[in-house]
Amino acid sequence: MLEGQVAVVTGASRGIGAAIAKRLAMDGALVIINYQGSQERAEQVKKEIEENGGKAALWQCNVADAAACQEMMDGVRKEYGAVDILVNNAGINRDGLLIAMTPEDFDQVVRTNLYGCFYCTKAAARGMIRKRSGRIINISSVSGVMGNAGQANYAASKAGIIGFTKTVARELAGRGVTVNAIAPGFIETDMTEKLSEEVRTAAAQQIPQKRFGKPEDIAAAVSFLASAEAGYITGQVLGVDGGMAM
Ligand code: NAI
Repeated sequence: MLEGQVAVVTGASRGIGAAIAKRLAMDGALVIINYQGSQERAEQVKKEIEENGGKAALWQCNVADAAACQEMMDGVRKEYGAVDILVNNAGINRDGLLIAMTPEDFDQVVRTNLYGCFYCTKAAARGMIRKRSGRIINISSVSGVMGNAGQANYAASKAGIIGFTKTVARELAGRGVTVNAIAPGFIETDMTEKLSEEVRTAAAQQIPQKRFGKPEDIAAAVSFLASAEAGYITGQVLGVDGGMAM
C-alpha cells in the first residue's frame, strides 16, 4: 500500500509513535524512526520492524530544535530520496493546575509539542510541494479539543496543533499534500501509566466505551490518513477516543 514511500515518525522509540512506525512499515513504507534520547528503544523498534520484513532507519533529533529538524528532513531526503509522509507525534506533558504552573512548564511543553510540529512540517513541506504529493499527520489530543483541568500548557499546545493543521491544509491543498490531525483520547502508554488508579478510573468513566485505547488504534487511523484512499480528506481532526469528544 505504501511501497516506495518514505515516512518520518517523530518520537517513535516508544508508545504511540512506535506503534505508528511499525504500522506504516507493515504497510510497506520505509520508516524513519526519530528519537531524542532513547537510542536503545529506537533500535528495538527498528529490529522488530525488520524481523517482520519491514524497512526502517533511525534519526536522532530533538524536535524542539529548528535547525536539527531542518537537518533531519534534508538528511532523510538526501539519503532516502524524499519525505512522503510526516507524522508529528513527539510530545510531552508537564501537568499541574494553572495557579501552580511555571512559565518553564508552559514553555517546555509548547516548545516540544507545537514548535516541534511547526519545525518538522516546515522542513518537510518544501519537498512535498515540489513533488506535488505528501501526507502530514499531526498528533493532537482530546485535551486540545475539550480542554482538561491540569493541562493548560498541554491543551494549549494541542489546540495550537489543530489551528496549525487547518491552516497548513489550506496552504498545501492545491499542491497535492493533505494535512490532518488525530486527537487521541486516553491511550495506554508511558504517558498515561503515570496516572494514579483514582485518576484512571475517573478518566475511564468519561469515555463512552469505558476503557482506554491502545497505541495500535491510533496507528490504524494514521495508516488510513497516509493511504491513497484518504486523498480527499484534508484539514480534519479525527477523534480516536472511544467516543469521549463528540
Ligand atoms: P510517550 O511519552 O510514551 O512517547 C512520546 C515520545 O516522544 C517518546 O518517544 C519521547 O522520547 C518523544 N519525544 C519527547 N520529546 C521529544 C523531542 N523533543 N524530540 C523528539 N522526540 C521527543 O507518549 P505517547 O503516549 O506515546 O504520546 C505520543 C503522542 O500522542 C504525544 O504527542 C502525546 O501528546 C499524544 N497523545 C497521547 C495520549 C495518551 O493518552 N497517551 C492522548 C492524546 C495524545
